[in-house]
Amino acid sequence: MQTLTIRKPDDWHLHLRDGAVMQAVTPETSRDFGRAIIMPNLVPPVVTGADARAYRERIMACVPEGDGFSPLMTLYLTETTDAADVIASYRDGLVHAVKLYPAGATTNSQSGVRDIETVLPVLEKMAEAGMPLCVHGEVTDPAIDIFDREAAFIETVLEPLRARLPELRVCMEHVTTRDGVDYVMAADSNLVCTLTTHHLIINRNHILAGGIRPHYYCLPVAKREEHRLALRKAAISGDARVFLGTDSAPHLDPLKESACGCAGVFSATNTMACLAHVFEEEGALDKLEAFASLNGPRWYGLEPNGGTMTLTRSDAPVSYPDKIDTDEGPITLFDPGFDLHWSVTRD
Ligand code: DOR
Ligand code: ZN
Repeated sequence: MQTLTIRKPDDWHLHLRDGAVMQAVTPETSRDFGRAIIMPNLVPPVVTGADARAYRERIMACVPEGDGFSPLMTLYLTETTDAADVIASYRDGLVHAVKLYPAGATTNSQSGVRDIETVLPVLEKMAEAGMPLCVHGEVTDPAIDIFDREAAFIETVLEPLRARLPELRVCMEHVTTRDGVDYVMAADSNLVCTLTTHHLIINRNHILAGGIRPHYYCLPVAKREEHRLALRKAAISGDARVFLGTDSAPHLDPLKESACGCAGVFSATNTMACLAHVFEEEGALDKLEAFASLNGPRWYGLEPNGGTMTLTRSDAPVSYPDKIDTDEGPITLFDPGFDLHWSVTRD
């Protein structure tokens, strides 16, 4: 038996939804994680400080007693966002970042940004205040192939934006390409990225070869194997600019298993076991703590969590549920496609 004790991890990109789904999925994260950056793409979205405060209270009501979990709120950037409200919510300590969704890029992004010029005044105020901007980095132009949308975003949106506002602190979330990690690694300052668990494990064949597998469909969509390998290399590098954001994104099974299925992989329950497997496979278990527990808080200006987590490797496979139940139906858990041998005990 092998054990690994690390600082309690955080999830720097998480969807908890609302209502019955939130009720069911929140404990799946609060069991293992100290904090999580909470995505604001509800319907209607979390736009104002008041929205975020109310949503935070609804989340806290779903956290089991004794879990000590703290949701870190974000605001959804719209073309009518009020800069003063954003900055006040940040200074208050309530809100930790603003999320930029290009309109139409992903689930519930229809209220997002069509023209980046319209939000520049907000971004300027954020740059002054040192407030992070979390970015869904894909263009939405239907003429751009879906597998090229991340690279096109870097070239046509992100690089011009950063050239114009170098003081803006940007987190490129759920990077899925070599282009993405190379871009982050080449930046002088004010740019970091998160990587999901599933993008370290699947490539586009998992979605499309031998039958279409909707539970592996997410956005940005998984790319070729060479990109997955580049992401793995970045994850195990220990580089302070790279950290975990699971993008665990629950959808009820009928909404995934559909002629037009929703994008999102739900991985909260087994994420730490999957990551231990990946880091072990790479001979880099000593880098897991930096990726999952240290680099994220440093970027967000927070201390690492006080507590620790112990991961234990057993020879026999550890079982995780296939699905979790909600009052509105089941949600399928991410299947890494291999046996998991790591389990988590809370210290
Ligand atoms: O796969 C995804 N699901 N990607 C996103 O960007 C959004 C998320 C969701 O909200 O379901
Ligand atoms: Zn997401």
